[in-house]
Amino acid sequence: MSDRSQKRAKTDKSTSEVQENPYLAHLPRSERLVNPSNGGTNVYGLPADHPLANFEIGKTTAEQAEKAEEGDINPFTGKDFSGRYKKILTGRRKLPVNKHRKEFLDLVQNNQVVILVGETGSGKTTQIPQFLVFDELPAFKGKKVACTQPRRLAAMSVAQRVAEEMDVVLGEEVGYNIRFEDCTSDKTFLQYMTDGMLLREAMNDPLLSRYSAIILDEAHDRTLSTDILMGLMKEIIRKRADLKVVVMSATLDAGKFQKYFDDAPLMNVPGRTFPVEIYYTPEPEADYLEAAIFTALQIHRSEDAGDILLFLTGEEEIEDACRKIKAEADQMPDAGPLKVLPLYSTLPPQAQKRIYEEAPPAKTPNGRPGRKIVVSTNIAETSLTIDGIVYVIDPGFSKQKVYNPRIRVESLLVSPISKASAQQRSGRAGRTRPGKCFRLYTENAFMKELIETTYPEILRSNLGTVVLQLKKLGIDDLVHFDFMDPPAPETLMRALELLNYLGALDDDGNLTPLGSTMADFPVDPQMAKMLIESPRYGCSNEILSIVALLNVPLVFVRPPSERKAADEAKAQFEHPDGDHLTLLNVYHAYKTAGADQKWCYDNYCNFRSLKSADNVRSQLKRYMERADLDLVSMPFDEKPRGAYYTAIRQALTSGFFMQVAHQERGGSYLTVKDNQVVRLHPSSCLDHVAEWVVYNEFVLTNQNFIRTVTEVRAEWLLDAAPGYYDLSTFPNCEGKRVLEKLIERRKRGGSDDRRDRDRKDKGRDSKRSRR
Ligand SMILES: Nc1ncnc2c1ncn2[C@@H]1O[C@H](COP(=O)(O)OP(=O)(O)O)[C@@H](O)[C@H]1O
Ligand SMILES: [Mg+2]
Repeated sequence: MSDRSQKRAKTDKSTSEVQENPYLAHLPRSERLVNPSNGGTNVYGLPADHPLANFEIGKTTAEQAEKAEEGDINPFTGKDFSGRYKKILTGRRKLPVNKHRKEFLDLVQNNQVVILVGETGSGKTTQIPQFLVFDELPAFKGKKVACTQPRRLAAMSVAQRVAEEMDVVLGEEVGYNIRFEDCTSDKTFLQYMTDGMLLREAMNDPLLSRYSAIILDEAHDRTLSTDILMGLMKEIIRKRADLKVVVMSATLDAGKFQKYFDDAPLMNVPGRTFPVEIYYTPEPEADYLEAAIFTALQIHRSEDAGDILLFLTGEEEIEDACRKIKAEADQMPDAGPLKVLPLYSTLPPQAQKRIYEEAPPAKTPNGRPGRKIVVSTNIAETSLTIDGIVYVIDPGFSKQKVYNPRIRVESLLVSPISKASAQQRSGRAGRTRPGKCFRLYTENAFMKELIETTYPEILRSNLGTVVLQLKKLGIDDLVHFDFMDPPAPETLMRALELLNYLGALDDDGNLTPLGSTMADFPVDPQMAKMLIESPRYGCSNEILSIVALLNVPLVFVRPPSERKAADEAKAQFEHPDGDHLTLLNVYHAYKTAGADQKWCYDNYCNFRSLKSADNVRSQLKRYMERADLDLVSMPFDEKPRGAYYTAIRQALTSGFFMQVAHQERGGSYLTVKDNQVVRLHPSSCLDHVAEWVVYNEFVLTNQNFIRTVTEVRAEWLLDAAPGYYDLSTFPNCEGKRVLEKLIERRKRGGSDDRRDRDRKDKGRDSKRSRR
């Protein structure tokens, strides 16, 4: 027997289990059936003239794959390749990783874990998963290849691109899966997904058995979920010899990854980079946004052709900068045309895709060439590569998560970037030819003030969600979990404490049945708790809507030039008791108006956000049904008046009792237990002095704000979490004294004091009738 037929004899058994050949989906069913004894087919039942006919899982060569890619028929759909496919393929062949296909295949075929480091733009994210697809042929095994991304936008954008590269429809063979948006089907064998989604999947499928290979991309980003996934991978590979793992990173700190994965082999893809000249400002800039806009216009006016990439921190700032740059550029008669494009996570996909458009042509045949400027968040640092960038403007800031376990506050804060980030940013200028990077800080600041690398997110996060997930995964001993960088003990303690107060963990730290249900919900533990409790208050339908609205981008639109009109529009929806109820009013009005886009436009509401809230709501509803939770509402006109809203506020308290502030005598608010001075965010619609409020978010700027606030009552707090409201653990403050009196009164058998409240409620009834 020849070598080949021996192998074939060995695999016959497993192939006979394969009923249908997934790569022949285009053929009539009779022809799709695998017939191993059919002399004319290969081991997978493919006809001899099929592009993958002589492929053998885990033993393919780069030449074989390239030949299949260069054929006329798409092996995955059976259709003829389009002209566009061929054009893209020519470009793909020039990417640096392409030269390393053989080396890569040798490494993955002989090792379970491979670390791959390569310059941004070398083709890691788009090509490596395809290399694996041709070698793993995942659909033959009924499995998938997954490639994780820290950012939702990157997962969507790259999946779209790779679907085009493979000449398939997005969502079919190639898809993506991000929270609340699953764009995959039964056919999907290459799936881009957020790291958080893969982690979530592990909770119900601890060995990730649906995957034959997992690529952890952007590992240098060190997001919380990627870090946890790396720890999980180490455990899973011990139990699944058939699983391949590739860890990809853009920086050279690969030694750490190698060591972590027991000296896994490293593949280095040298990039195609050109020198980038770095310019620093001689003096620190007082206003980086102004300086950035000035620099962008300066480049446009005086530098040679080449596109500009400007890094800013968030949507509002980016939109503001785009407007200003555009307005000024329109006033420059001697400069070429300028296309100004924003890029941030909540941008609609069509708008986001525009970053790949060409720069505009010159206005006249001999006129100055046009230019494109992309104003982006950190996403353009390594996640998305934009070709044609020659000038980079780096103000030196990004929005970063920070967590202070002492006061239990997690917040997004505009913070200085690290040296490693600054280097990545400048590298974006040298992709196609020599470029320039303008750093809007001094060289001295770069040398002395920037830290070397950004701290991993696990060191700057509230770990509530992650600890709940780990517990659900059956990992009880968190102290001995193999973290790449272990979190601070205090942070872990805080997470355990939070989950214990929420009833998700018992006093010994074991997962309770409630905790197990909470873990299933793809939202924060507080929100999960609130959803689960809401039927008891008779308002699960409304809480479902509110949670959905809290998980989408802001629903109110407030263009700078139309603030007054926008505020007036918002006033129609305002509920005197607070912002959660206002959100609910908006949602009800939107639904009543038939989910109409024009209605949104006329009322200064964000159509995409509301539409997406609707979608999130229906998904969460399925989780509620799965958990056997009733979907109920209070009758709106029930006596006493306002009971409908009272129930909702009580349900809010049942989840958010740890995010409460009390108004002290001087008028300022103090957060409960942690005693941080906070102010109501200016966007809040609470229209009277509320003694106690729950809040959704703590916003750290030069002042502390609490955002999305609703009034609650002291007695609800005591009822929601007696353990947390054990006053012996409270620092001295007015709030504590109020609660003490209330407890005293209850002990004496007295009812909770209602006089004050009734008075307030009466005054507000008139405003309440809106729904
Ligand atoms: N949507 C897209 N449209 C056009 N080109 C794209 C798109 N997405 C990626 N590319 C191009 O593909 C190339 C490889 O990118 P990628 O695989 O993301 O590199 P890496 O992951 O190594 O940073 C880049 O030149 C990039 O410009
Ligand atoms: Mg990449």
